[in-house]
Amino acid sequence: MNIEFDSSEIRLFKDKEAIILHPLWLRERSKEESAVDPRSLQRLYDPETLEDSLTFEDARQLNHDEILIKFSDKHEARYSLNELMCEVEKKETLPAKIMWNSESLDFKDFHFEYEANTDEQMLEILEYFHKYGFVVIQSLKPEEGEIINFAERIGFIRETNFGKTFNVRSKKQPNDLAYTSIELGPHTDNPYRRPVPSIQFLFCIENNCLGGNSTLVDGFQVAKDLMNQYPEAYKILKDTNIFFRFTDQDTVLENTGTTIELNDQGELSQIRFSNRLDLVPYQSPDKLEKYYEAKRIFHRMINSEKYMINFRLPEGGLIIMDNYRLLHGRTSFNTSEGSRFLQGLYIDHDSIESKYKILKKNIYG
Ligand SMILES: [Fe+2]
Repeated sequence: MNIEFDSSEIRLFKDKEAIILHPLWLRERSKEESAVDPRSLQRLYDPETLEDSLTFEDARQLNHDEILIKFSDKHEARYSLNELMCEVEKKETLPAKIMWNSESLDFKDFHFEYEANTDEQMLEILEYFHKYGFVVIQSLKPEEGEIINFAERIGFIRETNFGKTFNVRSKKQPNDLAYTSIELGPHTDNPYRRPVPSIQFLFCIENNCLGGNSTLVDGFQVAKDLMNQYPEAYKILKDTNIFFRFTDQDTVLENTGTTIELNDQGELSQIRFSNRLDLVPYQSPDKLEKYYEAKRIFHRMINSEKYMINFRLPEGGLIIMDNYRLLHGRTSFNTSEGSRFLQGLYIDHDSIESKYKILKKNIYG
């Protein structure tokens, strides 16, 4: 890489175009001992106290990756060109998402080996999870609480009013439809919470009754296809804020959000769909007609064979799914012969991402 500099800027030439670096931008990235705590890499000073007139005095390439920079405040720092370029090019450190439908999905499940070196195993599991938004792991001990042990290998559990875990089996006086035996169409969990739980774990301890298969849909793929095939419906679902509420004797949880949400870069960031408890706000009848039509199209797509995968989660089987991307459901089941008992819990995106990054760094450096 070619480097040029003058007092006000450094220019890196990767291809023909120059990447221009500002003195303060580089100075506050110094990892020298006088600048940061070596363990946490957190700054030992307020960067606002640096001279705003800071300039470069020298910039020299030491080897193919390292450059040494001297600043006008006499600070000298080494930088990795590779690291700087990753930041400039905003390179994602997580595996790229692979959107899927039931035909295109490269389905793979994992058998967890308690005895094996679990770091490589876990990295493979988390790699698949980040690409496809879910992962199925089999051969865990089908015992109550084992889901907690497994989740804590990855991150920290987010407790809710249901407790550290929630038990999915039919109850006599259920406070949620999950605790009945009826079919549940594809939905995302708990859009009434703030923030909405990010990653759901669902673990099968017993499943020997008829029915009760698990279903999954890649909501991002559906949203993308909706945008191409039904742009008006897509726009309505992207722009209409829906009200969600959970209520029982002890709790009232309320939140609003759109069915399809994009981030600042215009990328899909969240799907919310829970059609047993959603309330569209008051609008004129003609607007509502359009909203209901858009929702029907989305509902038809997520319930179609094209997008939905359907499989039986065996005892000791665990699904980890991204509740901001995937929709999940189950077929109805009959407990007159046999029983069905699943346990679930939630963790946050940052802890599962952190686990992936640490494992990757430990294994590959
Ligand atoms: Fe659910």
